[in-house]
Amino acid sequence: MISQNTIQQIQGRIDIIDIIGSFIKLKKRGTSYLGLCPFHNEKTPSFTVSAAKEIYKCFGCGRSGNSIGFLMEHEKYSYVEALRWLAQKYNVEIEETETTPEQKLQQLSADSLFIINSFAQKFFSDYLFNNEDGQDIGLSYLKQRGFREDIIKKFQIGFNPEARDSFAQAAINAQYNLDLLQKSGLVAIRDERPVDNYRGRIIFPIHNQSGKVLGFGARILKTNDRAPKYINTPENEIYVKSKILYGSYFARMAIDKADECLLVEGYTDVVSLHQAGIENVVASGGTSLTPDQLRLVKKYTNNLTIIYDGDSAGIKAALRGLDLALEESLNVKLVLIPDNEDPDSYVNKVGAAAFTQFVAENKKDFILFQLGVMLQDAGTDSNKKSAVVNQVAETISKINKAEDFTKQQDYIKQCAEILKIEEAGLHALVNKFVREKVNKEENRASRESVIHVNTEGNQNFEVDEEVVSLLYKDEPHERAMVRSLLEFGLKSWNDEQRVADHVFSEIAENQLEELIDNKNLITLIKTYKAWYDEGLEPTAKNFTYHEDNVIRQLAMQVMDYDYEISQNWKEVYEGKIDTREDLYKEEVFSTVNYLKLRKIKRLMDENQRDLEKTKDPEEQLVLLQIHQHLKQMEIELAKNIGTVIFK
Ligand code: GTP
Ligand code: MN
Repeated sequence: MISQNTIQQIQGRIDIIDIIGSFIKLKKRGTSYLGLCPFHNEKTPSFTVSAAKEIYKCFGCGRSGNSIGFLMEHEKYSYVEALRWLAQKYNVEIEETETTPEQKLQQLSADSLFIINSFAQKFFSDYLFNNEDGQDIGLSYLKQRGFREDIIKKFQIGFNPEARDSFAQAAINAQYNLDLLQKSGLVAIRDERPVDNYRGRIIFPIHNQSGKVLGFGARILKTNDRAPKYINTPENEIYVKSKILYGSYFARMAIDKADECLLVEGYTDVVSLHQAGIENVVASGGTSLTPDQLRLVKKYTNNLTIIYDGDSAGIKAALRGLDLALEESLNVKLVLIPDNEDPDSYVNKVGAAAFTQFVAENKKDFILFQLGVMLQDAGTDSNKKSAVVNQVAETISKINKAEDFTKQQDYIKQCAEILKIEEAGLHALVNKFVREKVNKEENRASRESVIHVNTEGNQNFEVDEEVVSLLYKDEPHERAMVRSLLEFGLKSWNDEQRVADHVFSEIAENQLEELIDNKNLITLIKTYKAWYDEGLEPTAKNFTYHEDNVIRQLAMQVMDYDYEISQNWKEVYEGKIDTREDLYKEEVFSTVNYLKLRKIKRLMDENQRDLEKTKDPEEQLVLLQIHQHLKQMEIELAKNIGTVIFK
């Protein structure tokens, strides 16, 4: 566990522009910064970062959060990992507190999965190199296939023996949690006993962008088995197949340098090419590329070259989804390896130089290639053929960047020729698809601009009032009170008290439930009080960067809520005081009293209902007296309020 002291030091140094700016390019625009959203595909930037508010928000996909949230979302870090990353960045020395066994258990599941995977990777590697069985079966197999030791070590390849539960026992002895072991896909329960999932298999660890193990691909050794050739980690918190490209961790520098990414089908293809010195290579596992995977490629290069074996069933899969690559202006080329070889076997056969030359000389255009495949499938069926024409026109229409205009014209010409149709006809069809797309985008843009007007008007990330009131009913008052506590709690209230003291004397802990509806806000206030009572000095940041996601989100919403100072108050002070900062006492006073007032109004309503129900004169009298009493309190309170109103 990282000590609270360290956490607060880190929080004190956070600079959101610096942090997000180290992952995406940001441009200054007014008081905020603007960039292309890393979480969805977009061509015009709608990702805004506000330095003042320390939050980011994308108006395209709606994602928002603070620096820590960004690191967690973008880098898939856990809260603790994000803190460690920040500590390193800002040279804060981490002070650790003891971890109890309970805390260990409570660690986030994702965190634990990484730890288990790291343990497993070491176990499998150790077995491969240091166990007799591992050497005789695993290592000799890899060597016979031509893999060198240095490359086996670099990719952290390992071996899991055939025995029922070698790994499972080791993991359980090391006190790893059985549920998590199952979630990691490494262990299964058979006949009520934990057993290994990857028995007698070569294990390829799959790394994320920072080199941590997300999961595994496990290849069988026996050839006669009916078991699947590869078993992969099941989807879990950290292994999300659609976002993974095998080898990307080892390839990213080389991709950047070569300005080209080679895409192959399999693990062994990646490892062999690497060994041959061709390092800008990743594998998709033979499925069609997802938007997330394309985005990963596009981080480094615009040139994607797909290298598959000529008769692979995977080619068609790979081609699917590539329209998206065109929209992103990725240049996609295709190379087919001849003679039943795959990149792994081919590079072993001909060597690195000949392989590179072959790739350079045999790059096919992906659109023309796809057209060829579709035409072959369609045969003489004229219905199918017209579907092909439509499909090609749609694909070409996706090339829509101005600088790609000539490219588009070329394609129309070449495809018309191959299809044996009129060029003008294909041209018209392409235009039709372009128009449809423009219409769709215009509709979307006009919806978005509504939000933009709001946000650019005053540089705030405002929430639509109607929506807020729908969602939270009376909550603005509750949030306002909490906000004034978070923001001004440590300021002085009078000679003896600080604002927090005043608030807690006005609202006792056992009254919270009746004054505040939102359970999470109550938790937040109680957390504040506990810290405050302990002698810590809680600030808003301790909450907007809190470990608990619910508190974090809530604190950010609370801090984001906007107020307006009442006209009345302004007139009294003739514009001398007009910031919330100057008026903090007034605000604290009002927000606390609003909640009390609301409570009184509710009691009066209740009283009124009771009064309507009862026919007993004596009871009526009591209720009327209560009513008068409440009314008096209401008047008192109302007199004192009225300086801060809510937008
Ligand atoms: P070697 O035959 O050892 O050279 O492996 P390879 O990577 O060349 O295998 P292959 O060409 O048969 O398959 C290419 C890729 O598809 C593999 O690396 C895996 O990612 C994936 N794949 C192949 N077979 C299976 C399978 O049975 N299950 C799963 N989940 N994936 C598979
Ligand atoms: Mn192969």
